[in-house]
Amino acid sequence: MDFQQVFGKPPETQAKAPGRVNLLGEHTDYYDCFVLPTAIPQCTTVQLGFSSDGQHHFYSENLNEQVNILDINHTPSGFASYIFGCIEVLQKAGYIIPSLCVYVKSSVPMGSGLSSSAALEVATLRALRQLLNLPIDDVEIAQFAQQAEIQYAGVQCGIMDQMASSLADTEHILFLDTRTLERRVMPLPNNAEILVIDSGVPRTLASSGYNQRRAECEEAARSLGVKALRDITDVNVTKALTQPLQRRAHHVVTENNRVLEVLQGVTSERFGELMNASHASLRDDYEVSVPALDKLVEILQKTEGVFGARLTGAGFGGASVALVRSRQSKGIATHVLEQYNQAGYNGRILVPSLGLSDAA
Ligand code: GLA
Repeated sequence: MDFQQVFGKPPETQAKAPGRVNLLGEHTDYYDCFVLPTAIPQCTTVQLGFSSDGQHHFYSENLNEQVNILDINHTPSGFASYIFGCIEVLQKAGYIIPSLCVYVKSSVPMGSGLSSSAALEVATLRALRQLLNLPIDDVEIAQFAQQAEIQYAGVQCGIMDQMASSLADTEHILFLDTRTLERRVMPLPNNAEILVIDSGVPRTLASSGYNQRRAECEEAARSLGVKALRDITDVNVTKALTQPLQRRAHHVVTENNRVLEVLQGVTSERFGELMNASHASLRDDYEVSVPALDKLVEILQKTEGVFGARLTGAGFGGASVALVRSRQSKGIATHVLEQYNQAGYNGRILVPSLGLSDAA
């Protein structure tokens, strides 16, 4: 089913936006810290047309599902909540949004920690900007997208995913200061490329303890008398906290320092070591890993040609990211998946994408 078949006319406009993978700086963007994401080849495409019956109609090709918004005081669930959220945050900002027909298709894997939701939000907002000539720039698109996610999907997320989807490309790392939104694009470390493997264990952000971690670290910041944990650089300061706040804050401060080290310029080997340290910190201090991800990351870290590996995204399942020697990712992935799947799991390679995935 395409737009024409679902809505009986062609779309007026369309836009796309990529998912992202975060290389370093995990679970730190909601404490104003620094992050290092990059875009992935997989994209979400949103097509828009005007609706003639005064109601919004949203259709997802991937889910083969249509949602009709009969009551705008009732937030829909699932994929429709992100589109509805984008429309609502624009309306609250004073823009007049007409009734719409929205068609979505995506090659960004869902539930793998690669920001399928940010890709949907950013693609929706880009398409709306085009359709209605809205005077909003790419940073504002990211900010509206984050508000949609917080207010309508119920995740108290930071701004990394939406900024990455709106501003990053697949050739560079986006160094982003999530407090000031200052940013810089950096090349990937020398002779290295990115390998993303899905653990096969899906995660659900909202129900996964994400909001709980955030609340814990806000309490930690209050106890330490700082605006956000970003304001602490000496990890010893966190010793004043009780557990588990001490472990949580220890992760955030050390993770932030790891990103800042990369900014000074590091070799691929050192970048990899920092990724390994990040995984240990997410597993032991922040406690957002699961046995499947630990196993996958352990196999990756022991494999020849891998500089470093860690879980990526919010955790509680989802994907791993590894920095590997150039042109070796597919061979490494085959070797790693053989061992991982022998251990009883069901992993799959997501980046480099195998053909079909960037088609959306
Ligand atoms: C999710 C959130 C981001 C970020 C990551 C963890 O992807 O949307 O804001 O917090 O988790 O780094």
